[in-house]
Amino acid sequence: MLSQSDMLARLGARRPNYSLDRDLYCDEGVFQMDLEHVFYKEWLFAIPACDLPKPGAFATLQVGAYPVVITRANDGQIRAFHNVCRHRGQRLCAKETGSSPKLVCPYHQWTYDLDGKLMYARDMQDSFDLSAHGLKKVHCVDLAGMVFICLAEVPPPISDLAPKLMSYLAPSGLKDAKVAYSSTIVEKGNWKLVIENNRECYHCGGSHPSLCRTYSDNPRMTAMEGPNAASPDILAHWDRCEAAGLPSRFVNHPQMQWRLARIPLLNNAESYTMSTKAAVKQRMGQMPFNDAGSLLFFHYPNTWNHFLADHAIVFRVLPISATETEVTTKWLVPKDAVEGVDYDLEDLTRVWINTNDEDRQVVEENQKGILSPAYEPGPYSTIQEEGVIQFVDWYCGTMQSRLSPKPAMAAE
Ligand code: FES
Ligand SMILES: [Fe+2]
Repeated sequence: MLSQSDMLARLGARRPNYSLDRDLYCDEGVFQMDLEHVFYKEWLFAIPACDLPKPGAFATLQVGAYPVVITRANDGQIRAFHNVCRHRGQRLCAKETGSSPKLVCPYHQWTYDLDGKLMYARDMQDSFDLSAHGLKKVHCVDLAGMVFICLAEVPPPISDLAPKLMSYLAPSGLKDAKVAYSSTIVEKGNWKLVIENNRECYHCGGSHPSLCRTYSDNPRMTAMEGPNAASPDILAHWDRCEAAGLPSRFVNHPQMQWRLARIPLLNNAESYTMSTKAAVKQRMGQMPFNDAGSLLFFHYPNTWNHFLADHAIVFRVLPISATETEVTTKWLVPKDAVEGVDYDLEDLTRVWINTNDEDRQVVEENQKGILSPAYEPGPYSTIQEEGVIQFVDWYCGTMQSRLSPKPAMAAE
């Protein structure tokens, strides 16, 4: 099991533009460091806000060792808490989603309001102070319908992302959407292999026959250099979309922790469907036309997303173990769209259900090969895998800065 100093040595000896050392994809010590320094420190995408449509709704997720519950209270606010009873520590909510006027611990029925206050604890002594035993808070923000949480005591700034994400997402009207379908799969691969695979389309032609009907595997489509440095078809798409009120131009975090850009689909396709036409009769929010393409948004370490004219697909990645990762996908449609009338669920979900399963297979085979003692890091294509290089550089830079001993304070 690698120690922190082993890990720093591996990161220091890494060959740029090459895949990572074998242990970084399977070692238990590295996995614990990834949790400690990435998943317990960064803002994580948790749920779309429309997963909690009404006061009383809650959703749960497990981030490493931390069970978390997210609620919408009577004041309409979304809040996140550690999903751990303040009596003797029972996990409070076991269901993935649900609705309840109060959170009642299944063990001895301590009862919490959805805003986290402890309201009732049976047969406790007079000296017991209800107000000192509310649920422990987890940082939580709702950015235009995407709920992010952060387990760190002091979260990193989100002020660079928040205004951009809110302005880019505003026309998609996620607040007036509903979850049409949700899928959770477990991929037997390290979470970094799941993200690496998502950050390139070098594999798309060989793996994704249904996605490739509508999504271009040309790397210039997605690995763009900046707001004015794209191919003429993308620049034309940005001009057309922005003239119609859709923020579209490439914007990014300086270290590429996140990126937003609206890309056209192939041959004026409208949606990720087998027919290439819209899957849903209504359009999302204020979307002005069907062929607006896909607004792409990723945020490391755990989400990538597609916002189309007729629906949105949000993805959440959570590590389970060094070699297992949970991927949850939700399809959002306008909330007044009726299944079977305005959309066909199979038509809406087929391409990405196929694509997720195809990605699961490549990630699992990738992990199996890396587990071989014969594996050695190989070169990324700087033409096709720029996104992977950016992710790996972000990850290694983040780990190096968090693991490095901090300089001692100068003596007075
Ligand atoms: S552990 Fe929750 S009420 Fe006892
Ligand atoms: Fe893929």
